[in-house]
Amino acid sequence: MKITVIGTGYVGLVSGTCLADVGNDVLCLDVDAEKIRILKEGGIPIFEPGLDAMVKANVDAGRLRFTTDVEEAVAHGLLQFIAVGTPPDEDGSADLQYVVAAARNVGRFMTGYKVVVDKSTVPVGTADKVQAALAEELAARGESIDYSVVSNPEFLKEGAALEDFMKPDRIVVGTEDPRAIDVMRELYAPFQRNHERLLVMDVRSAELTKYAANAMLATRISFMNELANLSERLGADIELVRKGIGSDPRIGFDFLYPGAGYGGSCFPKDVQALIRTAHAAGHDLKVLQAVEDANDAQKSVLTQKIVKRLGEDLSGKTIALWGLAFKPNTDDMREAPSRVLIADLLARGARVRAYDPVASHEAQRIFAGETRIDFVDKPMLAVQGADVLAIVTEWKEFRAPDFPAIKALLKTPAIFDGRNLYDPAVPRRAGLEYFAIGRL
Ligand SMILES: NC(=O)c1ccc[n+]([C@@H]2O[C@H](COP(=O)([O-])OP(=O)(O)OC[C@H]3O[C@@H](n4cnc5c(N)ncnc54)[C@H](O)[C@@H]3O)[C@@H](O)[C@H]2O)c1
Repeated sequence: MKITVIGTGYVGLVSGTCLADVGNDVLCLDVDAEKIRILKEGGIPIFEPGLDAMVKANVDAGRLRFTTDVEEAVAHGLLQFIAVGTPPDEDGSADLQYVVAAARNVGRFMTGYKVVVDKSTVPVGTADKVQAALAEELAARGESIDYSVVSNPEFLKEGAALEDFMKPDRIVVGTEDPRAIDVMRELYAPFQRNHERLLVMDVRSAELTKYAANAMLATRISFMNELANLSERLGADIELVRKGIGSDPRIGFDFLYPGAGYGGSCFPKDVQALIRTAHAAGHDLKVLQAVEDANDAQKSVLTQKIVKRLGEDLSGKTIALWGLAFKPNTDDMREAPSRVLIADLLARGARVRAYDPVASHEAQRIFAGETRIDFVDKPMLAVQGADVLAIVTEWKEFRAPDFPAIKALLKTPAIFDGRNLYDPAVPRRAGLEYFAIGRL
């Protein structure tokens, strides 16, 4: 099938590449000329495991191309996937300007039937706005051309995005238009060969499903973070509690890990956007507001522990930091807890020596001009000469470090672990003080 993907970011590039990989003819459009230049020259603008090889294979096979030419992009695909960003507006609601601009472009140039698919995470009612944008542009041209608007939210996880796209748990398709349903069924047939994964529903339910999923996952994390903080006060160990409740099949083990708060490009903004959607509908989501408040507070928990140990004034101190990305296997630092920790530490006069396997370039961009952060390319170089070590991302390479070497290198041999990576007895046996989240 001929497919255009509008917006070549984390979702657009992964979706376009995976759709090309099963034999489709895909053209990816972006307004960011630099991104398209990198892709055309064989590079990848983001870090996602396995993506570079898959992009290259599909470009070489002639099934995947990149452009900044809107007219060419609209002409190409029967399917026009909108995968542009939906960042929070000033009040926390989703800013739909990029989605609407993408839809307008389709309306401006389409010459035949198109299935316009909202893949971006968009609030309930956005499909109506996309429909209106298309209708207005066609009316301005004096044209009457058929189109369908479909909601098809994306559930991929950064760091495991290819696997998630190729083997989805479910494919949500929101439309009541039989012509569009047929096109979507054909499109997704290669991704559900072993059993039916397509859930066809009305557009509004599909739009809400995406927010409901992220809100539920964020709720589990905030719930566990609150219980972790309580565990510390009660002298309980949240890791034992986690195992004790996770073994109940009604609860399960996933997303029960306490830590330094959730971040990333989705949970924070989607939780906020759903709260705003509810407000606009005259309904308060009390649980979700608490989820957000708890998460905001949780991002400062590591700083509080460091301050409790080293004192309020951190001037003259250097904090080694392991991990910058909001989670492992990505270079994405949007809303990352590391950003809050770094800002807190700098505000208290500390310096930071940071190591991350892939996100340092992104952190350098975010903290451009900040001379109090040093970026190093080995974990032990961060520790060398630092006062204490803080960990905020659970990269695999941090799981079994050389604790005696860390003890020897730190001025105050203490680890502040925002991801509960270790059995506390192990670093303590090496003579380190060990502070984790909700652990004894
Ligand atoms: N990142 C994730 O893990 C993830 C997962 C599921 C859903 N989503 C949702 O998918 C959407 C995209 O997220 P992302 O992380 O890929 O964002 P991103 O910022 O990485 O990519 C968006 C891209 O769209 C481009 N763009 C903006 N306006 C455009 C236009 N009019 N025409 C063409 N290109 C345009 C931008 O230049 C950018 O490259 C968001 O709604 C997000 O909530 C993201």
